[in-house]
Amino acid sequence: MSAFASVVRGVGGYLPEKVLTNDDLSRMVDTDDQWIVERTGIRKRHIAADGELTSDLATRAAEKALEAAGLEAADIDLIVLATATPDYTFPSTATIVQHKLGITHGAAFDVHAVCSGFVFALATADNFLVQGQFNRALVIGAETFSRILDWSDRGTCVLFGDGAGAIVLERQTAEEADGRGVLSSHLRSDGRYRELLYVDGGPSTTQTTGYLRMIGNQVFKHAVGKISESIREAAERAGIEVDSVDWFVPHQANQRILTAVADKLGLAPEKVVSTVADHGNTSAASVPLALSVAVEDGRVKPGDLVLLEAMGGGLTWGATLLRI
Ligand code: UT7
Repeated sequence: MSAFASVVRGVGGYLPEKVLTNDDLSRMVDTDDQWIVERTGIRKRHIAADGELTSDLATRAAEKALEAAGLEAADIDLIVLATATPDYTFPSTATIVQHKLGITHGAAFDVHAVCSGFVFALATADNFLVQGQFNRALVIGAETFSRILDWSDRGTCVLFGDGAGAIVLERQTAEEADGRGVLSSHLRSDGRYRELLYVDGGPSTTQTTGYLRMIGNQVFKHAVGKISESIREAAERAGIEVDSVDWFVPHQANQRILTAVADKLGLAPEKVVSTVADHGNTSAASVPLALSVAVEDGRVKPGDLVLLEAMGGGLTWGATLLRI
């Protein structure tokens, strides 16, 4: 066991004001509420206002996480921000958030693993804290996927939304942490599957931003198996039985994937935190958004064992076990 642990001090989420319902979408493309609800569980998604940037959503979520932690921005010395929809090609959105929070010390950088981004960012921050390079980290997932959607493609535009979620992680001695903190992470990627889910533009290829393209049913087929595999690996590393998990907080892509993974792992449906109906797939933001909802409504309590997982473009996938 490590002499130090990365303990969650606070969690926060933010969704933009504007809501786009399934009925709204049925007036834009050939779809309907029944198809979207039956195939995905999504009822609505939030869309950033004109001029509202990924860094704005991230800053709002970070402020809420800091408030929940009872800390000031100046207490943070590391920001790791997961996004596939940065404000600019560079500088990183993390440094923009750092500036918006008024932090001028420490380090800030982005992590890019698309929908798995938060799990990758959390593992990165955890390693830095446990190694003693930083003391308190903001780990943020923030996205404005509405800006990279092809609004004429019904196979993708109904699935995604905008949002942000953040947690404050603090380095504590094993004694202080008393069993709390990140217990284990398992990260994976396999670039052979790039063409199942990608954006058809970028600075080095087309010099444009591009639009999201996905072969949804093939991504779906990979999701359940790969996610379950990384959960088992993370549990094994932590020496924990998966059925001892109190709360399962998965990436919110599709209710059918959430249910299938929980079934495969033998997790009771009432342990699954599902917010996909309210905001659709918010990519890297979805895991901390769902966690913030379950913490704020009192379901997830200090001492609970929480399992996070995600899979996204790359393909990338991973899982984290933490005691809150
Ligand atoms: O976060 C990153 C990871 N991403 C995911 O995990 C997404 C994974 N994939 C999915 O969630 C599902 O595959 C979708 C929700 C994208 C699609 O559900 P599906 O059950 O796999 O449907 P499908 O793609 O096999 O399409 C079935 C039918 C097709 O029509 P035909 O060819 O059978 O006539 C589609 O054209 O549904 C049609 N369709 C739609 N119909 C109404 C596709 N999109 C829509 C739509 N409204 N929005």
